[in-house]
Amino acid sequence: MLGGGLRKHVSRDSEIRMKIYGSHNASGFLGRSFQTINDLNRNERMYLFGHAGRLKHAIRTDKAEIMNEYRIGNPDSGLYEIFLEDSTRTRESFKNAAEFHRIKSLELNCNSSSFNKFESYADTFANLIGYNNRVFVVRSRLEGVCRYLTQSTGEYIKRQGFPEYVSFVNAGEGQHEHPNQELLDEFTFLEDLDWSTESIHLAMIGDLYHGRTVHSKVHGLSSFDSVSIDLVAPPELAMPAHYVRAMQEQGFIIRVFQSIQEYIERADVAPQWYFTRPQIERMGDRILHNQDRLRATITCDVDTASRLGERTVLYHPLPRHRERPTIPPSLDSTSLNGWERQSANGWYVRITLLALIAGQIGTDYEGPVGPIQDADEDPPFVREIVPTESKPKQYSEGVHPIMDGLVIDHVRVGEDAKQIRHHIRTVLPYSGSMEREASGYPKALMAVLRISSSGLATPNSPTPRLDALSPCRPEQVSA
Ligand code: CP
Repeated sequence: MLGGGLRKHVSRDSEIRMKIYGSHNASGFLGRSFQTINDLNRNERMYLFGHAGRLKHAIRTDKAEIMNEYRIGNPDSGLYEIFLEDSTRTRESFKNAAEFHRIKSLELNCNSSSFNKFESYADTFANLIGYNNRVFVVRSRLEGVCRYLTQSTGEYIKRQGFPEYVSFVNAGEGQHEHPNQELLDEFTFLEDLDWSTESIHLAMIGDLYHGRTVHSKVHGLSSFDSVSIDLVAPPELAMPAHYVRAMQEQGFIIRVFQSIQEYIERADVAPQWYFTRPQIERMGDRILHNQDRLRATITCDVDTASRLGERTVLYHPLPRHRERPTIPPSLDSTSLNGWERQSANGWYVRITLLALIAGQIGTDYEGPVGPIQDADEDPPFVREIVPTESKPKQYSEGVHPIMDGLVIDHVRVGEDAKQIRHHIRTVLPYSGSMEREASGYPKALMAVLRISSSGLATPNSPTPRLDALSPCRPEQVSA
């Protein structure tokens, strides 16, 4: 049932728009920014999916009249893509969506932009708004960047008297969220569930720790009345506990497995499996060294595939690794393949999203507008705390907080003795008098590197730098 479970709510986004622009707009979607999946409430997402399905059918059957209903009327309404991380599908499907709309579409060359001259995000985007661009698609490591830009450019827009709305669409931010991927994922799940939102039983397999597409599912899957999730990942790549809690708080039924091999033994595996790749670019050394073992626990090999039910569908936001894919290409021509359709759906969903943001469609939408938030819930903003002018605390003994240094913990940890020695050798040059006075070998559980006014002290700097060493037995180093 659409809208089930919606409680007393306030519309934060429309409040922000009221503050910035002074009035509500005709379509509740016009000029909206899209930082997290919750920025479109469940009814709004369903409205979007309905239109994306209608548009997909129209394009597939060449119904020009219906396609034209979605085309943004104003060709000057510019789309700007700012990608500070690599992408193929998200960047190119938005570009192709702009082609469909026949609107201006540009991309900032971030590698040679003035970001390299330490220009701020706020200044960069304000300048691009000034060139008559109204929708920014942003991929960045900076989590929360679209929310920040909505607020930081608001004053600029007012100062310059720009009459129109400016939207920031999150195209993937750090390890946090990838909400427009979530839209196309949900759209594809719904296609396979005959558009029923009654229930979903989904296995999420892979790098659940770093993967932002699975993090968007924590709230995105609230599109369904009843949700069962099987989390399949080794402990190193497990879903962070706060996301698991958030799912449980919404009434999702959660089961946890450490590998596909463990999961496939169950008689009640999910009919829909969502894979997410090991995000090796975000992993630390410790995990990287184990990547082959970890990858094996989240790979659907041919044997596993042969044990899946006839109606099972596999999804993957892609890309998959060309040498070590967790869904092998030998499965491409099987009925398990949901990932190719999922990727193609990205185009229809993003065309529809742009049509909504531009106000081309949406005036007939009658549900609640904006994020739904419990009235008694704290707003999801980080509150800024201004440091007080209090005197620094005096310590006569014991552990002192570090104000001017960098703590490196677990220095003496590694895969083998060679690596441990390498770690210790890397840190020792920074050690000062304390290291020389320490008896035995440094256990080096923790190193405290002092930071001088010009940056991290160098090995030849006269000041003592490695301030904390504890002795250990020689065999602990040579082991
Ligand atoms: N699914 C996805 O975000 O792919 P890209 O990184 O290629 O955009």
